[in-house]
Amino acid sequence: MDTNTGLTNLTDSEFKDLVDIIYENTRIKMGEHKRALIASRLNKRLREHKLETFSEYIKFLKSDASASEIVDFVNAVTTNKTDFFRENKHFEFMKTSFLPNWVKENASGKNKTLRIWSAGCSTGEEPYTIIMTLFEYFGKKIDQYDIKVLGTDLDTNVVNHAQNGIYKEETVRDIEKSILRKYFLQGSGQNEGKYRVKDELKKYLSLKQLNFKDKNFNINSKFDIIFCRNVIIYFDKDFQKELFTHFHNYLKDGAYVFIGHSETLFGVSEKFKYVSSNIYNKV
Ligand SMILES: C[S@@+](CC[C@H](N)C(=O)[O-])C[C@H]1O[C@@H](n2cnc3c(N)ncnc32)[C@H](O)[C@@H]1O
Repeated sequence: MDTNTGLTNLTDSEFKDLVDIIYENTRIKMGEHKRALIASRLNKRLREHKLETFSEYIKFLKSDASASEIVDFVNAVTTNKTDFFRENKHFEFMKTSFLPNWVKENASGKNKTLRIWSAGCSTGEEPYTIIMTLFEYFGKKIDQYDIKVLGTDLDTNVVNHAQNGIYKEETVRDIEKSILRKYFLQGSGQNEGKYRVKDELKKYLSLKQLNFKDKNFNINSKFDIIFCRNVIIYFDKDFQKELFTHFHNYLKDGAYVFIGHSETLFGVSEKFKYVSSNIYNKV
């Protein structure tokens, strides 16, 4: 035990073992700089099981009895930072370029099916922003189309949070006031300081837990856009390649992939052409 922090010490070999278990279960690559973070996040897991050392915890993770602990372990090591209207250029692109073209090319014919996947959706801010953008663009006409947004994440806690669609005041603080009033209900009494996404938005969203490492995603749709933003930054190149080969099969011809501002598909896949602002087009 570190007497300054009150946290259980993490030795070099324990850290290495944990990095391996994280990779095996999530494909997330943890470098040395994540050591303090891992130690502090997993200290709670040790306390929960009344374990004295990380070695004991690792032994438990490797045992047959670990199935439900692996879920909590994975939830503890994911980084879920997100925001409403994060990297807003992508939502502007939807409104000014993608949706006008989609309406022109599809909506007059039989194909009125619009499918968008928020892959690594965290607590739901991204998929709800996608749906608000669709409402802002289509207005009342939104019901004329067959629109569905899928949100998936590895972390079961964030998927549940997205499902509830309830957010603290500080999370919605930067949303334009008119948008906030239109799409959220403000809590009162016991729910003072909380905001809930309106059901009319929720009905467009399906959520499910999905681990990108699994060979079969069990998804039967092809998508017009996949948002996979601020996710691949945690993976190595080999796994990024594998994932984008997979994504390619889930995209309609000419469909788009949006990735985070600090991410790139350079050296990952040649099957996507760069458009702008980390938006890529399926070739
Ligand atoms: C930093 S958040 C990004 C959220 C959102 N896309 C955004 O840009 O605001 C990254 C998310 O990716 C998820 N993630 C990490 N590894 C994953 C994996 N192997 N399969 C599915 N999701 C994963 C994490 O649980 C986390 O919620």
